[in-house]
Amino acid sequence: MKLIHAKDYRDMSRKAANVVSAQVILKESSVLGLATGSTPIGTYQQLIEWHKKGDVSFANAVTVNLDEYCALPASHEQSYLSFMNANFFDHIDLRRENAHLPNGMAKSYEAECEAYDALIAALGGIDLQLLGIGPNGHIGFNEPDEQFVMGTHRARLSDATRLANARFFGGSAENVPEFAITMGIRHIMQAKRILLIANGAQKLDVINRALNGPVTPRLPASILQLHPDLTVIVSA
Ligand code: F6R
Repeated sequence: MKLIHAKDYRDMSRKAANVVSAQVILKESSVLGLATGSTPIGTYQQLIEWHKKGDVSFANAVTVNLDEYCALPASHEQSYLSFMNANFFDHIDLRRENAHLPNGMAKSYEAECEAYDALIAALGGIDLQLLGIGPNGHIGFNEPDEQFVMGTHRARLSDATRLANARFFGGSAENVPEFAITMGIRHIMQAKRILLIANGAQKLDVINRALNGPVTPRLPASILQLHPDLTVIVSA
């Protein structure tokens, strides 16, 4: 594991964007696993800036996002598709047909989860997975549980997660969808490289427990300790 301490959010974002752009420059057809949330916004902004300068292209890349809320129309401004469009996809040359998110409006969640796992497998797995971390140690929406859930699945969001995401839904946890479809631990852990980013002093404790404590499904990010190519960039 490589642990990098960034000076501040901007520095963390720049360093993370460096890892992502190097990946795409060295392998243009990279499969990038992407995250939403507040942490990667600066990384996407930096990548957009470099793209506009002609330094990095996503024309041959494929993306698979970690998760999407259930029962929130894709057109809703807080859907993760809307987030990715506004913060990244609308500003780069990624082909839309190469940008994948789970469909949170699927009639059959079971079929959707199976199809998402099959898609990632058909792509040959993920070259670089970008991750944030929840205050309770979740990655994607793999919430603390009795066991790690390996496949893509519909997850019930914990109270802590709904509270943490209330800021995107008018400040009320009740407005945060109760369920999301999330990539499971298998495809995250099978990614060839993982880049975990965390911003702010409030994330230091959970990062410390995830990287130095026991590996346990009670703190899903702790499994990352077992990954052979993990880079963690923290700013606090
Ligand atoms: C987002 C995701 C989540 C977030 C986590 C941290 O796609 O999968 O695991 O990375 O909730 O969110 P922020 O960055 O808002 O603190």
